[in-house]
This record gives sequence, structure tokens and C-alpha cells, in this order.
Amino acid sequence: MSSNLSPIDTAKFVAAKRAVDFIEDGMRVGLGTGSTAAWMVRCLGERVREEGLKISGVPTSTRTAELARQVGIKVVSLDEARWLDVTIDGADEFDADLNLIKGGGGALLQEKIVATASDMMIVISDSSKQVEHLGAFPLPVEIIPFGWQTSKALLEETLASLDVLGQSGTLRMNGDSPYVTDEGNHIVDLHLQRIGNPRQLSMVLNQIPGVVENGLFIDICDKVVIGHQGGRVEVIDINEGTHDEGLIEFAETDNLFTDI
Ligand code: A5P
Repeated sequence: MSSNLSPIDTAKFVAAKRAVDFIEDGMRVGLGTGSTAAWMVRCLGERVREEGLKISGVPTSTRTAELARQVGIKVVSLDEARWLDVTIDGADEFDADLNLIKGGGGALLQEKIVATASDMMIVISDSSKQVEHLGAFPLPVEIIPFGWQTSKALLEETLASLDVLGQSGTLRMNGDSPYVTDEGNHIVDLHLQRIGNPRQLSMVLNQIPGVVENGLFIDICDKVVIGHQGGRVEVIDINEGTHDEGLIEFAETDNLFTDI
């Protein structure tokens, strides 16, 4: 086990390493965004370079596209690929039904489009993201810049009639300016504490004019791969109803940590 990695990075790495075992020659693969997904992109790049794995990758953000090209993955757009075999991505929270909160990294719109256009979505995670009820992590909602203050007020007003504990939103900032997504939009983070009915909330939020998409992924994720700091990995498959465990061994000399 590499001593250079923090416990949390080790957990993210082993989850990523296990998840790329599901990728086969010829697949069109959605590439998620975030620190865990970045490990997955590096692991996939290693398989491309060392095994000659032939895949096309559809990135979910400009930063993932950059990393994918850097590690040798052939990058194509979703319009070129049209439909994907599998998407592997991180998450901010997941529950027992494998419903998710995503968008902590600001890429929820492309992530949701890409995951929905995939035969299978695999989430990779450390164990801290597993929750009984979604909502402790602020729910990101992507809104268009026009009239954003009105949209934010409408969001907060709407929450008053829904099964959530908190009702306030904050505009995500990047220094002194509003954060801007890859699609040129803003994000309001909703501080809900506990979401009683994620499916209803997701549908209601998307009815508000100005809202482009929200970070709830309902019935989209098929498998979660959970990494632990000692190298133990759990794989939960919601369709098969299975829960498997294994151990990932990797050498300190693994070039993933030195060549990128
Ligand atoms: C990016 O917009 C997000 O959906 C990420 O997938 C999520 O925030 C998980 O990120 P980390 O892997 O960095 O925790």
C-alpha cells in the first residue's frame, strides 16, 4: 500500500481501481468529475497505456476532459458517442436505494445528462458519503444567471411546502463573483439537512422557471463501489441485490502516483 496517500485518498483510489475492472474493450465510458473521479480517470488511463484497452471517454467537465487527454484516453463528445455503456462518477451522498446528491464540484448538469445516457452508472466513493437520509450535504441547484435572485427566492419559497428540514439557499461563489458552471450558469446550494422525499423534491425543483437541473440523481445509479483506507472494497449492486467485498493490493511503485 502506498504510504504517500492520505487515508481518504487511499479509499478513493481503491474504489476507482476496482470500478475500472468493469470497463471492457470497445466501451464508450462516461467520465465523472471530482477528486474520486480523477482517480478513476488515472486508473483508466493506466489500462489504456499498459493493456492497450480501447475505449472512448465522454467527460462531464472541462477539467475531466483535460485530465483524460493527459492520461491517454480518447475523448469524444456525447453527441459523437450518442449512448454510453457505462459512466463512472463520484457522489456527495448516496442512500440505501442508491439515490444520490451530486454537484459539489459544480458539474451536476453534464454529469446527469451523461449518466442518464448510459446503460449503467457506477458511483465510486469512500464510506463517508453513505447516509441514511440524503440532505446533510447542501443540494446544488443549477440556475440560469438571468433573474437569479428571483429564482433563489422561488426555490426557498417552494421548500416551505416540502418534506425538508431546512429551507435556505446560498449562491455559490468563486471568490468575490458568483460561481459559473461549464454551461455558463450559477449554482444555489440548498441547506435542507434532511430530505424526506427525494423523488418529489427533484421533480418540484425542476418545475421552477430559471432552474436548469438539480443535484438529486434518482434511479440513475446501478452500483456503488465503496473504498476503505486499508484497501477493502465493497460493491453494492441495486439491480442484482448483491453486496460483495474484496481487497485491492497496489504497490508503492505504482506509476499512477508519479507519471501524471
Ligand atoms: C462534481 O460536480 C460532483 O458531482 C462530484 O462527483 C462530487 O462532488 C464528488 O466529488 P469528490 O469525489 O471530489 O468528493
